[in-house]
Formats: sequence, structure tokens, C-alpha cells
Amino acid sequence: MNILLTGGLGYIGSHTAVELIAHGHDVIIVDNLCNSKPEVLTRLEKIVGKTITFYEFDLREEALLDDVFQKESIDAVLHFAGLKAVGESVEKPLEYYDNNVGSSVTLLRAMERHGVGKLVFSSSATVYGSAESPYSESSPTGVGITNPYGQTKYVIETMMQDVASSNQQLEFVSLRYFNPVGAHESGLIGEDPSDTPNNLFPYIAQVAVGKLDKVKVFGDDYATPDGTGVRDYIHVVDLARGHVAALEHLASGFQAYNLGSGHGTSVLELIAAFSEAAGHEIPYTITARRPGDLASYYAHTDKAAQQLGWSTEKTIQDACRDSWKWQSSNPNGYIN
Ligand code: NAD
Ligand code: UD1
Repeated sequence: MNILLTGGLGYIGSHTAVELIAHGHDVIIVDNLCNSKPEVLTRLEKIVGKTITFYEFDLREEALLDDVFQKESIDAVLHFAGLKAVGESVEKPLEYYDNNVGSSVTLLRAMERHGVGKLVFSSSATVYGSAESPYSESSPTGVGITNPYGQTKYVIETMMQDVASSNQQLEFVSLRYFNPVGAHESGLIGEDPSDTPNNLFPYIAQVAVGKLDKVKVFGDDYATPDGTGVRDYIHVVDLARGHVAALEHLASGFQAYNLGSGHGTSVLELIAAFSEAAGHEIPYTITARRPGDLASYYAHTDKAAQQLGWSTEKTIQDACRDSWKWQSSNPNGYIN
């Protein structure tokens, strides 16, 4: 299939491009480079050994998007483009609603005009808000979401359901990611935060390589086995393969799937695993809890296993090894 990847030069989109090409698909990327670098394309082409069609523009540019649908014979769309910093979304909510929801409206309209009905969307476990973990796809969504970023994911899912209900020809899937980590095993592509990372895993990686002093562990008095927060970390290559599986099992209507490992790992366990991969101790200090954090959450993974035939294959150790390879060979991330 010819697959349009919006935001395809970002962290998850780039890893997914590699897996799609490995499965015989052709990819066409649209990205405005607001949170990625052109060098990602060069690295991707090196990994897959062929050129990849790339258009640089903002997805909200309706006329430019029409040109892409006219020129390329698109069979399906994977929609990664969006802003994703939780804290920034609290400061600039309109930017988040405009970019994330606005670009999704523009995309759905363009798909309708050009008769493309297959869509896979990058959602997040954040749509479960204050529901009880482990989350299953039938857990309540939309209640207790604490930030505009999470709300945009919920709004887009709702919109997809409404649109899918209006036309039986549409095949829409929302993938609810848990915590994506790791990098491609080549060390050529990986996560490259533009500022000091907010998320734990890239923060640990930057401490490991000496760019940051020590990890701040946000609280050790949670009701978890070692008192630190527990999350469901998923290797980005497993996540990418989840997209290939979702694409190959599309069916009429709207479906949501959790993409997680189903296992929880604590902050201290993750620091220990990364220390082992890096071959040296990673310094840390215990600090206050981060407001808004939950003690523990992880995925129920049965639905994706049964309906998509997909489950994770890689371990936390694999993620630490691959991320260390990426971080130590690219200490400053992508240069261009
Ligand atoms: P990323 O920032 O690395 O990638 C997103 C890409 O989209 C970037 O290359 C950016 O330049 C591009 N982009 C943003 N707005 C655009 C627009 N209007 N037009 C064109 N391009 C645009 O993020 P990622 O980690 O790869 O995440 C991909 C998707 O997955 C996002 O929608 C994100 O919200 C979602 N997600 C990510 C995580 C995570 O922890 N990384 C967790 C859950 C969900
Ligand atoms: C965060 C977002 C969530 C988003 C997800 C993307 C918040 C409140 N939630 O989730 O909406 O979908 O990222 O992956 O921002 N931690 C530390 N020190 C750090 C950073 C984090 O101890 O420097 C701890 C946290 O308290 C948590 C765990 O590490 O227990 C994971 O944190 P993080 O990587 O930010 O992910 P989430 O909190 O799951």
C-alpha cells in the first residue's frame, strides 16, 4: 500500500516508516519540521536503502495537502503529526487545539474529498484520565484528563468515531500508546528532544551520556513496590510494528487498541536497567512528586493480541541497549 505518514519525521513516525517499508509498503511523509530535523530523512533512507518521498508543510495547509492526495495514490494514512508536550499544552492550550485538532479536521476533510477511508491515529493512554489501571479499551475515557494535550487526543478520537458512524466505508483505528522508549537498533534514529526532556527515559539517557547531572526521581512514597512511579514502557520498534498490524487488520468502523507491554516498571528499575546498558552508575536524587502524576498505570493488552495478532517482543533491556547506542553515538541528537 501507499501510506501517507503525517509527522513521519518525528520519533515514532520515523521508526514506523522503517517497519512499513520492511513489510513492503511505500511511504510518503508530510512534516513541517516543527519538532524534527531534515537529517532524519537522510538517516531513514540509509536504513531502508531507498529514497522516501517527503513534503515539508503544515498539515493545516489544505491546498498543499490536496496536492499530495492528487499526486500520490494514497491508500491509507497514519496520523502522527501533533504537538505532545504536556506542560506546554497547559500554557498554550489554543496552540494545541489548533495544531492537533485543527490538523486532524483538515486531514479528515482531505481524505473525504479524495476517497481515502483508512486512517490510523496516534492516541495515548492519557485518554483514560482517572480510570482504574490496568486500562482496557472498554475502560471509561475522557474523565479526569488533566491537561489540554490529553484533551486533544480525546476530542480527536470522539471526532473519528462520529465520522466513522456517518459512513460505513471508513476504516478508522486509534492506537493508545503507553510509554514509548528506545531506538532503532542501528543507532541511526532515536528520540531527540529539542529542550531538556520532560519524560523519564530520554532524561535518563542524557544523564547517562553526561549532558545532564542526575535524574530527579519524582517521589518515592507512592503505593508501589519500591515507592516510585510505575509505567508501561514499550520499545518504539514494537510500537511501530503495532501500526503495521493495525493497518493490515483495518475493518469498517472505529476501533481503539492499547499498544503497551502489559507490564509495569518503576523509575528505580528503569534507572538500574539503563545503568547496566551504559556500563556505569547513573546518579539520581529523590525529589518531590510531580503534580498530576499517577502512582501506577499499565495496559491490558488482550484486544491487540487477539484482534491484531500483535504483542511486544522487546524488553526493557533491549530498549536501554538501543537507546544507549543512539544516545552515545549521537550525544547532541540530529545535527541538521
Ligand atoms: P514528535 O514530535 O517526535 O513527532 C511529531 C511530528 O509531527 C514532528 O516531526 C513534527 O515536526 C510534526 N508536526 C507537528 N505538527 C505538525 C503539523 N501541524 N503539520 C505537519 N507536521 C507536524 O512526536 P512523537 O513522539 O513521534 O509522537 C507522534 C504522535 O504520537 C504524536 O501525535 C503524539 O502526541 C503521540 N504520542 C506520543 C507519545 C510519546 O511519548 N512520544 C505518547 C503517546 C502519544
Ligand atoms: C507523561 C505525561 C502523559 C504523556 C506521556 C507521554 C504528565 C503528567 N504525563 O506521562 O500525559 O502521555 O508522558 O509518554 O506529564 N519521572 C521522574 N523523573 C523525571 C521524569 C519522570 O521520576 O524526570 C517519573 C514520573 O513521576 C513517572 C515516570 O517517571 O512516574 C514516567 O514519567 P514520564 O516519562 O513523564 O511519563 P508519564 O508520567 O507516564
